[in-house]
Amino acid sequence: MFDRLEVPVIAAPMAGGASTPELVAEVGRAGGLGFLAAGYQSVEAVAEQVGATTALTDRPFGVNLFVPGPRSTADVKGYRERVREQSPTEPGEPRWDDDSYDAKLELLMALRVPVVSFTFGLPTAADVDRLHAAGATVVATVTTPREAEQADRIGADALCVQGSDAGGHRGTFADDGVSPGGGELFGVLAALRLVRDRVNLPLIAAGGLVHGADVAAVITAGAVAAQLGTAFLPTPEAGTSPAHRQALAEGTRRTALTRAFSGRPARGLVNRFLTENADHAPAAYPEVHHLTKPVRATGDPELMSLWAGQTYPLVRPAPAAEVVARLLAEARQALSVANTRIPPG
Ligand SMILES: Cc1cc2nc3c(=O)[nH]c(=O)nc-3n(C[C@H](O)[C@H](O)[C@H](O)COP(=O)(O)O)c2cc1C
Repeated sequence: MFDRLEVPVIAAPMAGGASTPELVAEVGRAGGLGFLAAGYQSVEAVAEQVGATTALTDRPFGVNLFVPGPRSTADVKGYRERVREQSPTEPGEPRWDDDSYDAKLELLMALRVPVVSFTFGLPTAADVDRLHAAGATVVATVTTPREAEQADRIGADALCVQGSDAGGHRGTFADDGVSPGGGELFGVLAALRLVRDRVNLPLIAAGGLVHGADVAAVITAGAVAAQLGTAFLPTPEAGTSPAHRQALAEGTRRTALTRAFSGRPARGLVNRFLTENADHAPAAYPEVHHLTKPVRATGDPELMSLWAGQTYPLVRPAPAAEVVARLLAEARQALSVANTRIPPG
């Protein structure tokens, strides 16, 4: 599947509104592979997005699912009280849910979506078999060599190796409740090389990749494709909110990993909410996600989550197909420069 891409560039699934059928179609038209994000959405909304995408393009595309985790035993009430004191609106009720995982999985099989990827955990081996029977290629997101070995054992066809440089939520299977990274943090290159040493599956690299030279770098390091999220956030086809677009364009804030917004580690631009709550948020996803939802919905850049990868100041806004074409041209250029630096043997 990934060997057949004209351009080894994947537009990452971005839950919360950024991923759209238009973005997926344009990236596919330019020779890359686009992903829809099923996380947070209703089953009906996912069905609509898949339908809209197939109406726009004949190219293959993917859909990403959040794998549900266990209910948390952490003190979420105390955190809710803390958030309530800071925000102009009443926080939501913390509650656990499974993001309609089973129903979404059934839907993607029924609609014969060509690529299905998973984050926050793994599908069962039986579900991987069913996805294969429905013609799907299965991608598992991993952040450590250990997670990669687990994904290999359940029969995943490819791994998305996500570095700690990545914007948005980390795909860690479990949050250890201690460090925001849920354990040791590996940057994209370290993660890629360590995973390559343990498993023999096609690897997709993700995290802080914004330039064609970055694409060339991860391909040289053994990846079959580069998955970019933040680079596509300012494209006109993305559903990124105006406040998020503006904060990215300003390029003045630093990024940090935090569980303040959702109870799961994620990388975003530092704002007041993140600064005041980063040290207090419990490892409780999706309870904290539901709790902060009305606060994030205010659209105030000091209160909402502004997901971004570490290299976000280097992103150059353009239409999605132009981004893909430019990445390809830059990757070619970077490889020819590299060839002059590494003498033939
Ligand atoms: C706004 C945003 C939303 C994201 N949502 C998802 C998601 O729903 N599922 C997923 O697997 N990854 C998600 N990610 C992570 C991406 O898949 C990818 O790992 C990351 O964007 C790569 O780093 P970069 O943003 O520096 O390119 C999201 C990233 C961003 C920036």
